[in-house]
Order: sequence, then C-alpha cells, then structure tokens
Amino acid sequence: MRQAGRALPEYRAIRGHGSILDAIADPDRATEITIQPVRRYGVDAAILYSDIVVPVHAVGFGVTIEPGVGPVVERPFTSRADLDRLPPLDADAHTPYVVETVRRLVRELDVPLIGFAGAPFTVASYLIEGGPSKTLGRTKALMLEDPALWADLLDRLADLAIASLRSQVDNGASAIQLFDSWVGTLSPPDYIRSVMPASSKVLAAVADLGVPRIHFGVGTGELLVPMAEAGADVMGIDWRVPIDIARARLGAGIAVQGNLDPAVCLADWSVVADAVRDVLDRNAGRAGHVFNLGHGVTPDIDPGILERIVELVHAEGRADRADA
Ligand code: CP3
Repeated sequence: MRQAGRALPEYRAIRGHGSILDAIADPDRATEITIQPVRRYGVDAAILYSDIVVPVHAVGFGVTIEPGVGPVVERPFTSRADLDRLPPLDADAHTPYVVETVRRLVRELDVPLIGFAGAPFTVASYLIEGGPSKTLGRTKALMLEDPALWADLLDRLADLAIASLRSQVDNGASAIQLFDSWVGTLSPPDYIRSVMPASSKVLAAVADLGVPRIHFGVGTGELLVPMAEAGADVMGIDWRVPIDIARARLGAGIAVQGNLDPAVCLADWSVVADAVRDVLDRNAGRAGHVFNLGHGVTPDIDPGILERIVELVHAEGRADRADA
C-alpha cells in the first residue's frame, strides 16, 4: 500500500517538520519509516521510503516537495536549454543516502523490498507544470507542439529512472515499480506515440535484472494493454476498472496489483469488508494477484481499518488460493 505509513502516529512522530526530502536523505529515518507499516500491518512487502522526484532533485533540477501540495519546481521546464539541468544520474554520487537506506533495509527486513521510480511522463508533468495541475495543459501543449524536445526530455528522464532502478536492485531490492500516476490523462494514441517509447526503454533496461516489474497508473483503464506491452510483469490497476474486467483486457500471463478504492477505507468496517471480498471474488482465486489499494493511503484513513484489511486478505485470499 503506497504511503501506508502516512496514517501512522509513529510516522508523524519521526517524520519531522522539514521537507520530506530531508527525511529521505537521512538513512536512519528513511529505514525506520519504510519498516513501520510492515511492522504495524504485517504486509507482505515493503516499499522504499523515497519519492519519484528524488533523482531530478539530486541532479540539481531545482525541485522541492511542499507538505500537503507535492512537488514544486522553481524554474519549470520550458525550452531545450533546460535539458542541461538534467544530467545523467550517478546513484552512488548523487543519492548515496538512497543506496545506504536500501542496503540497510535489505539486511533488516524479512519481506521483499520494492524499489521504484517515476515514469518519464509523470516526472515530466511536474517539471513542466511547476506544481500540481488538474489538466496537465502545459505538459500536453509541449508534447504536441514540440515532439523533438518532448522526446529528448522523456529520454533524459528515462535514463534517470534506469540509473536509479538499477542501483536499487543492485543493492538488493527484490522488485521494481514504475509509477506513471498521471498518464491516465492521455488518450491511447497519444500514449502510444508520445510516452510508450520512453517507458518501454525504462522497463527493457531493467529486464535483465530478473526482478518483477510493476507498472502503475491512475485512471488507466483504456491504457492497460499498451502499458502492459511497454514491458510489465505486473499491471497496477486503480479501482475504476474491476479486476475481472482488467484481467479480461490484459489476457493471461501477466499479474495484476490492486484494486480497492482507498476512499472505501473511510467507511464502516462492514462496507470495507464487502469491498475487499468483492475484489477477491472477482479475481476468483487466479494466481498472480497482488492485493493492494488502487492508489495511495490518505492521511485520514484509520490505521485500524488497514490492519483489518490485511488480516482479511491473508485469511480469505490465501484460503482462495489453496482451493484453486
Ligand atoms: O509509499 C510510500 O510511503 C513510499 C514512498 C513514496 C513516497 N512518494 C513518499 C511520500 C512513494 C512510492 C512515492 C511516489 C510518488 N510521489 C508518486 C507516485 C505514486 C502515486 O501516489 O501516484 C507521486 C505522484 C509522488 C509525488 C508526490 N510526493 C505527491 C503527489 C505528494 C503528496 C503531497 C501531499 O502531502 O499530499 C508527495 C509527498 C510525499 N511523498 C508523501 C510521502 C509519504 C506525503 C507525506 C509527507 O510529506 O510526509
């Protein structure tokens, strides 16, 4: 569950008031924060405490993360000259704290560690918009007006993601997740023409590492097939497409991750339990289902509900599998 730790009092206690980038740059805190949700909920994997903007921040593009807002860029990307602010990432030199956190986690965890990176489109959207945007208007304008510059930008961002992911796996991460959170704002033709080449490059460049590659986006019901074709072993699905329909679109031979609506977690337990069972029933005991929320945990979700969801999935999901 992404950002599972956010709802925890023990997270707030050690997170500190500064930028999240400071907490990420401190291996003591980042290691402890990564482990907290595993300890509290008994989930089957941990996701590294970092952020999708860490590589662009580390190479000096000029990105901060404002609490309650998200990534903010001082001088947004507008022209070819801005490519100079995206040099290649040397993970050991630029992000030694991530390397150290991954190494410590691999020693300390008894569940697999999932490493991750932002996909080129979603990271580009932050660099171009400068902050959160509902429409991604500037991003799409650049993509359509200047395809050559767009392709070069996405290629730089693909290289940053590749360097970061390879380093995380080299240091012991057991799986990787590519987050293309906002790509669901695109039509399939625009995705295939303008985004898929860069995402395919990232996924192909980590294929030799032999770890599962999870590919995730929000609102991507119409993009599931091309996103899978970009090279995923596991497709993340939000809650807008029921898991049985997503499976029908994807065909056999690919695993799925999802797909409980995080907002459901704010309802009474009986409602939550029915929604969890509905996801499990729709999966119908098929192998290759990573039960998860369809998107991140919001800070208003009661940790007690998340604890009960994990218990229920372990009890019923595993029983299902044994029967299958
Ligand atoms: O799940 C985890 O806690 C692991 C670490 C993680 C974070 N960000 C830490 C974080 C991961 C996997 C991410 C990925 C990320 N970051 C994505 C892709 C996944 C998704 O949710 O779609 C995106 C789009 C971002 C960019 C970003 N960073 C946003 C939109 C925000 C939220 C701003 C807010 O406060 O609402 C952040 C900040 C952030 N990154 C938090 C955490 C735990 C919020 C809490 C804090 O600042 O302490």
